[in-house]
Amino acid sequence: MNLWIPLGFVAVLLTGPHSPVAQSGAEQKQQSLYDRLGGLAPISVVVDDFINALVPDAVLNANPAIDAARKRVPAPYLKYHVTAMVCQATGGPCRYHGREMKESHAHLNITEPEWDRMVSLFKEVLAKNKVPAKETKELLEIVDSTKADIVVSRQK
Ligand code: HEM
Repeated sequence: MNLWIPLGFVAVLLTGPHSPVAQSGAEQKQQSLYDRLGGLAPISVVVDDFINALVPDAVLNANPAIDAARKRVPAPYLKYHVTAMVCQATGGPCRYHGREMKESHAHLNITEPEWDRMVSLFKEVLAKNKVPAKETKELLEIVDSTKADIVVSRQK
């Protein structure tokens, strides 16, 4: 009896064509940020923590327009919209149906220091949730891409 079997065939038998071991480096790179973050459940937890940190923040609420809006707009509404936005922007299956960033923030007169404060709170939340460095960087880039539409005033 001939027991010789080509090695490549053995490798496929051991790992299976779709197992993580069989994935090439190129295939792994194609995984969306959404998938690397673990999908909608972990994203919704991060957004929940983020909005919970933003809404009561004294530095941001020193701006009367932000303070008035956070009292008027329900936090769950913001969590819903921001979760859908992050899900979509990271390559997930959700669709964001809220307003444009310019339209929804123009009346808040958000300054550069307030923006920096938001980014530092966001970084704290990502660290608390143990989001890895690469995914943190990509999320910060997504947030940064909205800055020009959100920061309208350069003065404090
Ligand atoms: C300093 C930075 C920010 C502050 C203080 C802030 C605060 C707020 C407030 C108070 C509202 C409610 C406005 C209103 O309806 O009157 C709002 C809406 C919203 N914000 Fe922000 N925001 C900031 C940055 C961001 C960023 C970076 C994102 C996403 C990348 C974002 C996503 C949204 C979304 C999706 C809404 C809801 C839009 C809608 O009502 O359709 N915000 N934000």
